Amino acid sequence: MLYFNNVVRFRKWKVFLILGLFSLALGLKVVLKTLRVTAAQLTDLRKCPACYGLSICGAILNNEIVIRHRGVYATFANLFNAKNVFFGNYAGEKVVLKKLAHTSELYAFDKMLCTDSKLFELCPNNSNKKSVPRAIDFYTQITRELTTDFASDNISNLRLCPITDHMDDLLYNVYANSGNDKKQISHAYLWTILRINPEPVVLQILPTEDGWPVPKYYGACGRVIVEEYVGPPLSNYHQEPWIRRAKIASSLLEAAQKFTYRSPHFGFYLTDISPDNIAVDPKDNAKFIDMENIIVVDKRIQQNNRTSDWEELEVNKVDFTCQNCLAFSPVDICSHHFSDHNYYAVCQLDLLFQHLLSRTTSSNAIPGGLLHDIPNDILQQYPNLPTLIEQCAIPSAAHTRIVVGDLLREVLNEIVLENTRQILRH
Ligand SMILES: Nc1ncnc2c1ncn2[C@@H]1O[C@H](COP(=O)(O)OP(=O)(O)O)[C@@H](O)[C@H]1O
Ligand SMILES: [Mg+2]
Repeated sequence: MLYFNNVVRFRKWKVFLILGLFSLALGLKVVLKTLRVTAAQLTDLRKCPACYGLSICGAILNNEIVIRHRGVYATFANLFNAKNVFFGNYAGEKVVLKKLAHTSELYAFDKMLCTDSKLFELCPNNSNKKSVPRAIDFYTQITRELTTDFASDNISNLRLCPITDHMDDLLYNVYANSGNDKKQISHAYLWTILRINPEPVVLQILPTEDGWPVPKYYGACGRVIVEEYVGPPLSNYHQEPWIRRAKIASSLLEAAQKFTYRSPHFGFYLTDISPDNIAVDPKDNAKFIDMENIIVVDKRIQQNNRTSDWEELEVNKVDFTCQNCLAFSPVDICSHHFSDHNYYAVCQLDLLFQHLLSRTTSSNAIPGGLLHDIPNDILQQYPNLPTLIEQCAIPSAAHTRIVVGDLLREVLNEIVLENTRQILRH
């Protein structure tokens, strides 16, 4: 009897334990669910019209765009996501949601709206806030944002130079995408974006649908934008098979060529190129995913606006004292028809020809660049490959970097093609 009682007691205890654990797990799940950031929560719509637009609000507010939270860690990471970059899904595609600035920067921006009497119309706490701000001349403000003195602290990271006569031409796609929005409203969005982070504007100026190596732009809702998830960052590819790295390197050189030459009207110089700001798509094409810093040079300027060396190529000099940082002069880039800056950034900085310093001046022999460890059979067939990489990084004469960069791309394409043929033959 005693034995029987003990068994029953033990079983009861076990049942209670299982029930307890079950409710704990359920409770945790509920807590995690409530902690999960949703796309709608990121929009901060009450900040509009000091926001990025409303074009993708339908999909966000209908819960068609869902933020991915894999596991407890991701939920907490998203909760304290300092970069304000979130990964999600939309219509079967992977997407990235960006608030475009850190929380403290957005806070400072809102504070500025509420303390500057000229901008008070946009202050989120202004009880008399109108849906259409009347008193602000956004067009003038936009021009100012694009041209503010390079030396100034509070500059937009999208700069148009040396003149702004063709600003509307540059922004053509942005206006075309604003649909039925009132002009004053679309200008308010545009100004806000330029003040905070011009990436969505740049993604519209250079649409991926037209072949620019950037993510597809889906749209904005309040203080969040949605863009295509390209793939893992370039920094993940350092140890991939050489042939794969060669394909990526070729796409980087193609991007440098496109940004510099493709548009007959404007040259686009990316000033924050780093392996973290480049992602690789499933076809091993590199795409530029952080378009916050860019100089746009108007190629169509009148004779009287030209500097004496306007027609000369602006050549970026290697800065030996500056390891892993982009050394460039916006003033120099802006005073020349063309610059080799994009080639410089791709070839010299961390990408194709990394750790120049370690090779020449330091004993710390870090394997260099994306194209490190060229296989012997390829080296035998293309013995000038290391010279091409070096000349693109540190050219021996002006123009050499671009000529060599384009040649290097051709050689890499040839190698990749030959490799594909060999695979198909076997
Ligand atoms: N479109 C994208 N596709 C894939 N990954 C992305 C994309 N946008 C951002 N990321 C990832 O998020 C990181 C931070 O995004 P980024 O726009 O560079 O923000 P920040 O300006 O804070 O550097 C990137 O380094 C990259 O790993
Ligand atoms: Mg970045």
